[in-house]
Amino acid sequence: MAPGASLAEESELSRLVGREWLELTGIADGFEERIHEADEMFLTARRAEQANVGRSRLQYYRDGHEVVASLNNLLDATGRSFRSCGRILEMACGFGRVTRHLVREIPPECITAVEIIEPAVDFVADTFGVDARRSCTDPVDFDLGEEFDLIVVSSLFSHLPRARFGEWLEALYAALTPRGMLVFSTHGAGVLPEVPKDPSGFTFIPQSESLGLDGEEYGSTFVDQGVVDVIAREHGVAHLVSLERELWMLQDVHVASKQPVRGIERWRHVSFVQGVVDRMIVRDGAFHVDGWAADTRPEVPMSGVKLLLDGREVAMIPVGNQRIDVARVKGRPDWLQSGWALEGRVPEVEPGRHLLAAQGISATGASGVLDIVAVDL
Ligand SMILES: C[S@@+](CC[C@H](N)C(=O)[O-])C[C@H]1O[C@@H](n2cnc3c(N)ncnc32)[C@H](O)[C@@H]1O
Repeated sequence: MAPGASLAEESELSRLVGREWLELTGIADGFEERIHEADEMFLTARRAEQANVGRSRLQYYRDGHEVVASLNNLLDATGRSFRSCGRILEMACGFGRVTRHLVREIPPECITAVEIIEPAVDFVADTFGVDARRSCTDPVDFDLGEEFDLIVVSSLFSHLPRARFGEWLEALYAALTPRGMLVFSTHGAGVLPEVPKDPSGFTFIPQSESLGLDGEEYGSTFVDQGVVDVIAREHGVAHLVSLERELWMLQDVHVASKQPVRGIERWRHVSFVQGVVDRMIVRDGAFHVDGWAADTRPEVPMSGVKLLLDGREVAMIPVGNQRIDVARVKGRPDWLQSGWALEGRVPEVEPGRHLLAAQGISATGASGVLDIVAVDL
């Protein structure tokens, strides 16, 4: 398929909601919105959409954005920035869920993106202008002929069997400059408690969201932090620092380096607003909205939840209602007061379709769009 070919089955609503998310997040200008029809990350978001009509782009953009926010936070803590990094390798870039956010931080000429799926390599090269290369299953054949100050690998190690896990770790580590950082993510053993885990601390199930890749090479992996440490040592990694559930509150993030990274002891979870709109009901000119919102960092209070109609503020809703369910399910006792709710009249607008959004804002200034729904007024 040619780059930019349209997603024929995608709903117009998803495009509208995606565009509104970009606007509210402040990154709409120049943002690349083309998505390849075989993009598994997008197709996964679209499958989830069945319960949540129109949210596939919102989910897809937000997940990619969170990776780059998390990297910025790490770079900040270590006194670095994307621009100070020189060359960056994005390993296993897929069809560019993260790449489209990376190219906003650093010129595409500074990025090498690697993928095993050939159409993804072509799409990422043509769409984002990065140096895109084809990867291989066995890293013995992997040599890009250069070294990188930052290597980013989101959601590849969460799919590799144990032997490949170690081999890829070693190969990517070898591609680091002496001061470089290899940042990779894994699923901890506590993720999906309903899936039985191997007592060894390393569980590999030969099944994934991929329709094309061999399940024995690309499945679903859950690994204890202690086992990541052991594998890293076995493969010559000199320094490894990790943060549990740093990505999407789900995946652990690890930083491997050849030299100790100055400032890494200051690295904490990225400040990110999480939350959900449980109900957003509009009827006869009146609305009722409620949900929860919280900052991912411990004990950071919320400033409130902004309710917006077509991007214009309608109300600022205080956060503080008790949500025992959220505290319990998320394992965050500090999120006990994360509930919010409001009823009111919708402002007068032209009759037709409008977008109502809820955006959580925390005391650190971090914000996150909780949801956007289309309403006919
Ligand atoms: C879960 S997706 C994540 C994609 C992207 N990093 C993101 O976060 O959106 C994992 C990607 O790894 C790719 N992959 C699997 N094995 C690979 C390999 N040996 N080399 C490069 N990419 C690989 C898959 O094709 C898939 O696109």
